[in-house]
Amino acid sequence: MYKINENYSKFPGSYLFSTIGKKVRVYGEAHPEKKIIRLGIGDVTQPLAPAIVDALHKAVDEMGRGETFHGYAPDLGYAFLRETIAECDYRSRGCDIEADEIFISDGAKCDCGNIQEIFSLDNRIAVCDPVYPVYVDSNVMAGRTGTYDRERGTWSDVIYMPCTAENDFVPELPEKENAPDLIYLCFPNNPTGSVITKEGLQKWVDYANQAGAVILYDAAYEAYITEDNIPHSIFECRGARGCAIEFRSFSKNAGFTGLRLGFTVIPKELKCGNVSLHSLWARRHGTKYNGAPYIVQRAGQAVYSQEGRAQLKEQIGYYQRNAAYIFDGLKSMGYTVSGAVNSPYIWLKTPEGMNSWEFFDHLLERVNVVGTPGSGFGPSGEGYFRLTAFGSYENTVEAVERIKAL
Ligand SMILES: Cc1ncc(COP(=O)(O)O)c(C=O)c1O
Repeated sequence: MYKINENYSKFPGSYLFSTIGKKVRVYGEAHPEKKIIRLGIGDVTQPLAPAIVDALHKAVDEMGRGETFHGYAPDLGYAFLRETIAECDYRSRGCDIEADEIFISDGAKCDCGNIQEIFSLDNRIAVCDPVYPVYVDSNVMAGRTGTYDRERGTWSDVIYMPCTAENDFVPELPEKENAPDLIYLCFPNNPTGSVITKEGLQKWVDYANQAGAVILYDAAYEAYITEDNIPHSIFECRGARGCAIEFRSFSKNAGFTGLRLGFTVIPKELKCGNVSLHSLWARRHGTKYNGAPYIVQRAGQAVYSQEGRAQLKEQIGYYQRNAAYIFDGLKSMGYTVSGAVNSPYIWLKTPEGMNSWEFFDHLLERVNVVGTPGSGFGPSGEGYFRLTAFGSYENTVEAVERIKAL
């Protein structure tokens, strides 16, 4: 008789966004006349930029001709894309990253979830609290965590690093005596929208190098950084090549949520003893992955073309304008708000006397606006709420006006 992976049975209830989806569906069915504005899930709404669409068309035509047809992509990615990324995202920022240290994939979610496979099951993980759920859940599935404490909303054997108003939503370094082996960091942060300065991130790199830990750095929202002295990559820090892996996505900077493209950077000198993590990930990628589609990688290359860059600057500017509109609007109403400046996320404190889910219900039922309860991202998210800037400008303005009328 077969058995299932019992780690899956440890999960409480359903995934956060399924619960939200269900609540919204039930409300929508009961009130079909209401127009619900969704500022909950972090999905983009603007169409692909023309330079990307052109690249897709051209690549599709190539696929339709015998002389230019492409079969399986190289499993680590086409050289044209890896070279472009190494030059435009790294070397141009002074980061020492080579094309063959870049692994192309179909998105950052898979990479963030899969990376834990190359590490021992007895490694201890540390995560921010609140946190993008994929980091924790993928470790639960693997069996690297203990049991779930429903009361506290935490897993045993996980080091939670609270991100609160007191620390500007940037975690403190864990105690040295209780140092984690794998540290998940995400900046600009989902869900809080917080960022870390270059000096701040340097402290984490120094800490990881001293403790013999690896930082798994998720920079999916890097394109939203507007301020100076905020690093776009962990490889801007001294010593990061010896302790860090970075994840990037084309979803939020270029609208690829439905097209799917991302990459992971693993420097060759990142080693455990004499075993290179680069070669482990290459082995894993080669065995379990057959490469992102040629047409999508050509589309990814267009993101870095002159026209592509100009068009995407405008597209990101569109979402940044939404973020500023929500931030300013809520602030003027007296809400305590953060994020938005270097991020598409707005993190607000729920009104006195209301917890995250109560505020969710309140907004849904009173003004038909959907956001995400902060407590869904971890216990320190209780009493907070996340809104996203990824809606249309018109819906964003309307949502803010409706909240004002509450
Ligand atoms: C922090 C973070 N990392 C990764 C992802 C997933 O990116 P992708 O669409 O490339 O899988 C998301 C998506 O919302 C995210 O918020």
